Amino acid sequence: MITIGRVHELRAICDDARAQGKRVGFVPTMGYFHAGHRSLMHEARAQADFVVVSLFVNPLQFAPTEDLAGYPRDLAGDAVVCEEAGVDVLFVPAVEEMYPRPICTTVHVDGLTEGLCGKSRPTHFDGVTTVVAKLFSMVGPCQAFFGRKDAQQVAVVRRMAQDLDLPVEVVGCPLVREADGLAMSSRNSYLDPDERRAATVLSRALHEAAAAITAGERAPDAVHRVLAGLIATEPKVELDYAEVVDAGDLTPVTIIAGEVLVAVAARVGKARLIDNMTVSVNGANVEVDLGVVARESEG
Ligand code: PAF
Repeated sequence: MITIGRVHELRAICDDARAQGKRVGFVPTMGYFHAGHRSLMHEARAQADFVVVSLFVNPLQFAPTEDLAGYPRDLAGDAVVCEEAGVDVLFVPAVEEMYPRPICTTVHVDGLTEGLCGKSRPTHFDGVTTVVAKLFSMVGPCQAFFGRKDAQQVAVVRRMAQDLDLPVEVVGCPLVREADGLAMSSRNSYLDPDERRAATVLSRALHEAAAAITAGERAPDAVHRVLAGLIATEPKVELDYAEVVDAGDLTPVTIIAGEVLVAVAARVGKARLIDNMTVSVNGANVEVDLGVVARESEG
């Protein structure tokens, strides 16, 4: 694996790989890797011939009140994870390399960014789409791998790539959980042991909501009550939202049918955590996708 930091190096190395007939797989990240990141790298390794990981804590997607300064970082540890996952190139640009001048051009995806996390983080998705558009332009034609824990991000980035005819296939990969159900997140490192235990209420609430839908519940309000009711039993967890939306356009549904996304967000101590499941309802037939549990050695 080689580690590079310059945009021209990234372009040249990806062009060269494609010139040799290799398919490029790209995993954009902000580092501090956990099993969720590793699963994206493994998927890229399985589907592509040449794997590029970017590691850049993107200031543009943090509001001034958010955790940019304290965002966890471990470049040395992350490089080892990439080596072990068979990554070919680790791209770690400096902020000045990504944003050499004040930025006048941003990418905004309408609609999909308004609900869910967009309500409490109104500038977040413009920061994500702008940096991802830049990274896609640097890497060039590729498959790009994103985790479905950030289900709204996957929908937004996919729509951006379609609308702008970017030569990138956006691949959504399973959400990865700890053995006790907590969705893997770099921000879990902010939790003290009590908060860490309390945070599992998010996945427990999703399980309860899944059971209600499987038992025949089709009213989004009732599912909201199940989620909010259980989350309210944990005083350390402050609910931001618990919603049932259409899995395609992320608009609230009036009845649970077809494919829906059940998504929650909450504050636990210093961390803002999100979790979700996809539910496919076809008459009485209900299929729930809560993601996968990391093998112990991957935690
Ligand atoms: O999901 C993330 O880690 C970030 O939002 C991304 C996609 C790397 C853009 O900075």
